Amino acid sequence: MAEIIIVDNEDEAGELYARCVIDLVRNRPDAVLGLATGSSPLAAYRHLARHVRDEHIDVSRVRGFALDEYAGLDPATSQSYRSTITRTVVQPLGLDPHLVHTPDGGTDTLATAGRDYDRAIADAGGVDIQILGIGTDGHIGFNEPGSSLASGTRIKTLAEQTRKDNARFFDGDVDKVPTHCITQGIGTILKARHLILLAFGAGKAEAIAETCEGGISSFCPASALQLHPHATIIVDGAAASRLRHKDYYAYAFAHKPQWQEL
Ligand code: F6R
Repeated sequence: MAEIIIVDNEDEAGELYARCVIDLVRNRPDAVLGLATGSSPLAAYRHLARHVRDEHIDVSRVRGFALDEYAGLDPATSQSYRSTITRTVVQPLGLDPHLVHTPDGGTDTLATAGRDYDRAIADAGGVDIQILGIGTDGHIGFNEPGSSLASGTRIKTLAEQTRKDNARFFDGDVDKVPTHCITQGIGTILKARHLILLAFGAGKAEAIAETCEGGISSFCPASALQLHPHATIIVDGAAASRLRHKDYYAYAFAHKPQWQEL
């Protein structure tokens, strides 16, 4: 069972994530970060960048692997996940762009790109901390409902709901949102040593309830986190509103022993 932490706002969640990463990088300067795009991690990246700056953390050897990329979208366009990760993570933190990878969404190489990406993650020694958002339908990465819980990185068809949710990044025009993507599989994500999933707002409440308190099912891909030995789910009150045991989670966090890490 994941640890569920209910916070007041995205900044509080971001601070928890940032502290975890800073502690990791102090111990392992060539740490491997698993990176997500979307709105949910933005405050976390901002807090991390501030800590890196204020505490003079050397991040020159930190490596990164993004979760996913649209298929057939020029990586140079502003909506590509390559550009998004550059804007939101690489530049504010001052990472070496050559050490930060996104899956190759080029249509010529899609057949082999997934396998190559999983191999590159394994060759790097695996992901230390993977940050995750969650879709309103329970997806993580772009593993839509029905994705195998053992899947590796591969091409997927985006659900219509996900394309509608993401139309805000494409001038509000759902027709501009690509229909396919390449995404780390659920099996790939589960190999990371620590998973930190962030969710905010009432729109995520149902997906969070299914993830934490529903059965493990490929129809709620995020429910696979129940299988992970070190998963942390950080939500605000609105995203936690449908959790049956939210009082217990708040109680457990309030009484967490000091020696127990996140
Ligand atoms: C992004 C990703 C997606 C998002 C999810 C939530 O790389 O993998 O799973 O995390 O769609 O998106 P936001 O955070 O924008 O609500």
